[in-house]
Amino acid sequence: MPNIIRLEGISRSFALPDGSHYDALRAIKLSINAGEIVGLIGRSGAGKSTLLRTINLLERPDAGTVQVNSQELTSLSARQLRSAREQIGMIFQHYNLLHNLNVYDNVAFPLRLHQRLNAPRLAARVRECLEIVGLSDRAESYPAQLSGGQKQRVSIARALASRPEVLLCDEPTSALDADTTRSILATLRNINTTLGVTIVMVSHELAVLGQLCHRVVVMEDGRIAEQFDPADTATARQTALGRELAFYRSEAGLAGSWKGEQHA
Ligand SMILES: Nc1ncnc2c1ncn2[C@@H]1O[C@H](COP(=O)(O)OP(=O)(O)OP(=O)(O)O)[C@@H](O)[C@H]1O
Ligand SMILES: [Mg+2]
Repeated sequence: MPNIIRLEGISRSFALPDGSHYDALRAIKLSINAGEIVGLIGRSGAGKSTLLRTINLLERPDAGTVQVNSQELTSLSARQLRSAREQIGMIFQHYNLLHNLNVYDNVAFPLRLHQRLNAPRLAARVRECLEIVGLSDRAESYPAQLSGGQKQRVSIARALASRPEVLLCDEPTSALDADTTRSILATLRNINTTLGVTIVMVSHELAVLGQLCHRVVVMEDGRIAEQFDPADTATARQTALGRELAFYRSEAGLAGSWKGEQHA
């Protein structure tokens, strides 16, 4: 199975005000298969967001290589990197929408920036993305007129606009209630299965990770402490975390393992 993401020897340290350094990522090695949904969990400060932001080079590592779709991102020019980033969408806890633009223009924003589509094709693409997230009827609304769940749907539509192969999600449901979280997760699962988009998601919610992920990676002090498949009950049962993830997975009615799905 081809790796769509391959991180090798990733280290990142931050300078502290007292002149010392803090090692946020320590020699991380992580490979992710095309079509996989991978969750990152760990204590606050473990390095989850820093690692996620390394995948699109929002965070440039001090050492190591970042391969996405066989391209080594750290060696690209600024222009090449901009183009490579069109394959990598990102969504955040607080949506990061432009408040003075309506829903349509928020989704169109990255497309206008890259100027790859003519006007009719751009309009068709925006409509298509709004349809995927179920917001076709809200194109004229402004972010302030939307619920949190709807705002996150707009940000997902915007992230999909350039037809990315990878979607990075940093705590996408942390600000949402349980029902809204479930419906956002259903949308993300649908994007994964119908569009084949690979998803990497940071979350501290075991229910979210158990329901969505094929693999959960546990981070501790800038390192990968352990990782497992929530559906692989033999390994999952050995730890409390694994047992809880497996419980949420079965509760969501997701039988079988990722490997099973792949061979199906
Ligand atoms: N730009 C920065 N400057 C200095 N220190 C930083 C910077 N970004 C992150 N750090 C530090 O690196 C460590 C890892 O941060 P990171 O945001 O990746 O953690 P996290 O696992 O996402 O935590 P949380 O669950 O709270 O979001 C933290 O100690 C943080 O303070
Ligand atoms: Mg974080």
